[in-house]
Amino acid sequence: MNTSPTQQNILIIGASRGIGFGFVKMLLEQKNNIKLYATYRDQETAGDLFKLQLEYSSFLNLLQLDITHEEQIDNLAKQLKNEISDIHLLVNCVGFLQKGNIKPEKSLRHINSENLLTYFKINSIATVLLAKYFLPFFRHSDPSVFAAVSAKVGSIGDNYLGGWYGYRASKTALNMFLKNISIEYKRTCPHTIVVALHPGTTDTDLSKPFQRNVPPEKLFSVERTVNQLLNIIDNLTENDTGQFFSWDGSRLPW
Ligand SMILES: NC(=O)c1ccc[n+]([C@@H]2O[C@H](COP(=O)([O-])OP(=O)(O)OC[C@H]3O[C@@H](n4cnc5c(N)ncnc54)[C@H](OP(=O)(O)O)[C@@H]3O)[C@@H](O)[C@H]2O)c1
Repeated sequence: MNTSPTQQNILIIGASRGIGFGFVKMLLEQKNNIKLYATYRDQETAGDLFKLQLEYSSFLNLLQLDITHEEQIDNLAKQLKNEISDIHLLVNCVGFLQKGNIKPEKSLRHINSENLLTYFKINSIATVLLAKYFLPFFRHSDPSVFAAVSAKVGSIGDNYLGGWYGYRASKTALNMFLKNISIEYKRTCPHTIVVALHPGTTDTDLSKPFQRNVPPEKLFSVERTVNQLLNIIDNLTENDTGQFFSWDGSRLPW
């Protein structure tokens, strides 16, 4: 992925805060010759991203997207088509664990079908829609990567604790979508590497309420996480497509 001398067009989805914002910041600081597109849903939570845009106005373009609306994904692809024909890296960093009345379920007693649908819409379905609408941008012969930030709790083989039904299952579904996307992309855009990435527990709003029992050495800063994930992305080869990588580059069981 790190080999082309041509301008790299990068799209980071869910860049208002957390890991997505960290990707945008680090890419701007470390990479030359990039054109970066970053999405936010709500301007109110995207203050830091807008500040960064002022600093890097020739390299960073901000676009609004609520990932639960298919027509907005379609429109985003159409909007980008007016500016670029190729994408070299797309990372979907959007994720949802809890907000308001929706909390990770500790028991079957807490299962609620509407809440489950919310998890699946944000954490799973969004990525397969991105793969659908952005496929034409990957029909080029440069190396490219289509990645989504998943989570180890989505691993069926690694599930020893239970609980968090909606979040876990939505990440499992995300992983299956990514595997399927990798198989179809291999036929239609064979130079695109499709991967699921587990970031490790990272100090963001998403993990804040659950950090109490995490030993300090296992709680990563956003900078550390993004650095580790970019290192994996930079070293991917076409043989890696369809795999589920942990933050240290090891492969996780499905
Ligand atoms: N942090 C961890 O320890 C950890 C561990 C394992 C996996 N992950 C995964 O890593 C990814 C990033 O998580 P994070 O820790 O950075 O979370 P975060 O700080 O809570 O950020 C979540 C991002 O998702 C966006 N988002 C939520 N719903 C959206 C929607 N409907 N449309 C568009 N954007 C939406 C948020 O935008 P708004 O600002 O508009 O809400 C925000 O940019 C997620 O997929 C998460 O599941 C995180």
